[in-house]
Amino acid sequence: MLLKPRFLALVILLWFPLAYSQSKPVDAEGHQWWQHAVFYEIYPRSYADSNGDGIGDLNGISSKLDYLKSLGVDAIWITPCFPSPQVDFGYDVSDYENIDPVYGTLADFGSLEKNAKKRGIRIILDFVINHTSDQHKWFINSRSSRTADKRDWYIWRDGKGPEQPPNNWISTFGGSAWTFDSKTGQYYYHYFYPQQPDLNWRNPAVHNAMMDVTRWWYKRGVAGFRLDAVDTLFEDPDLRDNPVLPGINKYGDPKEEDKYNTKLPEVHDVLRDLRKVADQNGAVLIGETWTKDVAELKPYYGEHSNELQMPMDLMFTELKFSAPIFRQHIAAVDASGGWPVYVISNHDIVRSYNRYGDGQHNDAMAKVMASLYLTLRGTPIMYYGEELGMENNDPVRKEDVKDPKGRLGWPQDIGRDGERTPMQWNDSPNAGFTPGLPWLPVPASYKTHNVETELKDPSSILNVYRRVLVLRHQNRALLDGDYVALNENDANVLSYLRRYKNEAVIVVLNMSAQPQEVTFDLASQGFATKTARTLLTTMNPESTEGSLSHMALDPFSVYIGAISK
Ligand code: NOJ
Repeated sequence: MLLKPRFLALVILLWFPLAYSQSKPVDAEGHQWWQHAVFYEIYPRSYADSNGDGIGDLNGISSKLDYLKSLGVDAIWITPCFPSPQVDFGYDVSDYENIDPVYGTLADFGSLEKNAKKRGIRIILDFVINHTSDQHKWFINSRSSRTADKRDWYIWRDGKGPEQPPNNWISTFGGSAWTFDSKTGQYYYHYFYPQQPDLNWRNPAVHNAMMDVTRWWYKRGVAGFRLDAVDTLFEDPDLRDNPVLPGINKYGDPKEEDKYNTKLPEVHDVLRDLRKVADQNGAVLIGETWTKDVAELKPYYGEHSNELQMPMDLMFTELKFSAPIFRQHIAAVDASGGWPVYVISNHDIVRSYNRYGDGQHNDAMAKVMASLYLTLRGTPIMYYGEELGMENNDPVRKEDVKDPKGRLGWPQDIGRDGERTPMQWNDSPNAGFTPGLPWLPVPASYKTHNVETELKDPSSILNVYRRVLVLRHQNRALLDGDYVALNENDANVLSYLRRYKNEAVIVVLNMSAQPQEVTFDLASQGFATKTARTLLTTMNPESTEGSLSHMALDPFSVYIGAISK
């Protein structure tokens, strides 16, 4: 396809690396680097395969740094790339201070870090703190005898009786959370798979060893960690049975309230200590924080802002695509006082393209979602491929499932393979991810939804992401402005201002399948103007001005404009 000169100019403009301010640790107004940064999660197995074994690797990521830079990414969070038997695809770490050969070497990590730094991109690693692999040398020692050095580094208990585990706790991946080890005649505890024994965080030696792991990586240039499964670090010392709830879960176990093995207050002591080490290294801590409401999220920041700088708002991923629902949630987050961390996808949940999509307008809806979470106050974390409208490619036969919990729970739980498929780089076989056989198949939609094809189309999902990210990095109101909700009774259109001194950006999102008309009266916000200067719209043709007294919106469309006093 030949590009029209105007569109070619746009593509070239967007491709050139922008001189973003994110490389400075703190700006003149005291914002930390991570408050102005855009984070991007990479599942290394699926990003880019440099050696043709069908599995992505660190050199593959290195080869895509220019893409990431031009997209507007300031920090990449790489899910676990440490040595691992890969039972839980890296979330079962057998050595915290090395790289799994499938992903490369420490030297490859070093060059990735160096090349990323050159481009102003920081590296965040995934720290699996709740458990190790059962192949970690600590656990091998621990299970070797009741008097082993590291026996107390894990949770070992006698059963209640013959073939009776110590209590009724259920693993979140199915079955009892206790596994009997015949060698020493005791059970060990694992909140996840049996191959992921829980560390005993009440043991100071474990605590110190884990703090040292973070220091080890900080010395190698890591800018922070995403902390895995922070809620499950501690268990009730008396091992009280959890209350049993009515019904059976996806794995055939009785449902339980995880009252005595999750969210114990001691978690916060660990977060404070990890934060002290992070602060000594100018690093950021991101948390895998699943919460039922905004009030539950607040304590993760710490009473004196001395825990996680970035606890993820994973509630966002559970909201229905609806203007009033998002409006209510954003208002609650904004009022709570913490720095918001918005996320719409990750490697554990169905891709945003399918989750929010209605099956008919998914592309337009993906653009609305991009324009929403990338223009809010706070720090967004993207998930690789979301910027393309990558969709889930779920297995249809049990024998194809790679994620063990998908085999265990089939067909109620089909596992997480569908949201972990290879990044779609172009329309060649396997979407250009590998010259070999990819570890997971790409969906048929890779033919249209891939980097190369979308770069050529100015109205693609990718180009909307790129344009919003340019605005987000350059526009003062989008960087630092307040959030002001507008037209709060509108059931279809979500509108808000990001207001900074005499400037503001107005964001208008039609979240319905019908055309809508909206009117804004911004006098009470101190803006007398009746028009906005268009920064971005997904409507065709793109007008240079938007009328605030009468704005007509296409179904699932976006209008973003600048106004001033
Ligand atoms: C959360 C991770 O995101 C998930 O992928 C993993 O299976 C569990 N923690 C266990 O580490």
